[in-house]
Amino acid sequence: MTHAQITGWGMYVPSTVITNDAFVKMGLDTSDDWITSRTGIEQRFLVGVDEATSDLAVKAGLQALAVAETHGSEVDLVVVATCTPDHVMPSTASIVQNRLGATGAGAMDVNAACAGFVYALNMAAGLIESGRAKTVLVIGADELSIYLNWKDRNTCILFGDGAGAVLLKAGDEPGIMSSTMGSDGSGAGLLTIPGGGSRFRMSANGKKPAGQYLTMNGPQVFRWATQMMTGAAEQVIASSGLNSEEIDLFIPHQANMRIIESTAKRLGLAPDKVFANVDRYGNTSAASIPIALCEALDKGLIKVGDNVVLTSFGAGLSWAAVALRWSAEIPERLSPWVPFRQTFETRVAAVRSALRRQKRRVGTVIDETLHRDS
Ligand code: ACO
Repeated sequence: MTHAQITGWGMYVPSTVITNDAFVKMGLDTSDDWITSRTGIEQRFLVGVDEATSDLAVKAGLQALAVAETHGSEVDLVVVATCTPDHVMPSTASIVQNRLGATGAGAMDVNAACAGFVYALNMAAGLIESGRAKTVLVIGADELSIYLNWKDRNTCILFGDGAGAVLLKAGDEPGIMSSTMGSDGSGAGLLTIPGGGSRFRMSANGKKPAGQYLTMNGPQVFRWATQMMTGAAEQVIASSGLNSEEIDLFIPHQANMRIIESTAKRLGLAPDKVFANVDRYGNTSAASIPIALCEALDKGLIKVGDNVVLTSFGAGLSWAAVALRWSAEIPERLSPWVPFRQTFETRVAAVRSALRRQKRRVGTVIDETLHRDS
């Protein structure tokens, strides 16, 4: 049987750090003490005005390709999990595919909010296991900060921006061992950015834009998440034929330290088996799990043969979990030529893209001229 193995990984966060105290200085009725004790978050990274989701995704994707020593042209499919795409259309994945020079790849976005990356990972693994793809780049990238109401203390302190990526390849050994995906749309209103779609049109009847902010019923999402995270993790642990003592590392969605601790306790996992970095990044939505995975690898917490469980939840309500056996050697350092090679390759991709646009323009002019003359 063909298995899907993670062979490359990468992450990127923007450079602007916002500490909890910055909210107090902004005049928000909150405190570092409240945010830290109720959420575990101490700081988060936020994008600047010119940074789109695809910009973050490309940087994380390039790193994943570099670790796997793979060129963009070898990728069969680029999937970007995001609920904050660059545009309604085209997909953010198409923009990323072009910039990575992934000329032989299909491209699509997956929106399952914070659960999107694990959804996309699961789907990509299925394509590889069935033989429909050999190499898939899965990226989780979000910038929820652009939808935050900075006067709403219930939500604005929770989120950060970022991107994380993995490159999946076909291999003989597991790999992704088991997975689950779920949704309970009866809770769709609990966590939403209502405006901008077909139900809630932003500029209908000349009215002022409304509904552009993220709204959330925090306590209800909290209660649901603590129960569901445990259930989803138990399901993938059981269906991979393992028990919780055999789990080497549990990487849950990084939304709130209290949710992480409560889930770990319910699963009977010791604190050293549970990875958390919500203190430094906040909730980065679809980027949360791949960023955590990259940091866990960087800290040497995962080695070949380890059993790792990823569990996520988000708006929808939606959830997904994956149990995997780690199979990739972790390179001590990348070749110093990698940045030069990748700069060269992305420039070639940009030139190729410009030439294609030019060719399309010239083709249109020739067609119109011939049509006029005939
Ligand atoms: N600073 C100070 N006080 C605050 C703040 C704040 N930033 N935010 C809320 N409060 C106040 C509330 O107004 C309330 O005051 P009141 O009692 O006078 O009404 C009090 O603190 C308690 O509020 P709760 O909402 O009950 O606080 P709770 O302990 O539940 O924490 C939180 C709120 C952090 C939002 C929590 O409910 C939570 O983490 N929920 C889950 C969020 C989550 O995981 N979202 C996932 C998103 S995934 C995706 O798809 C995007």
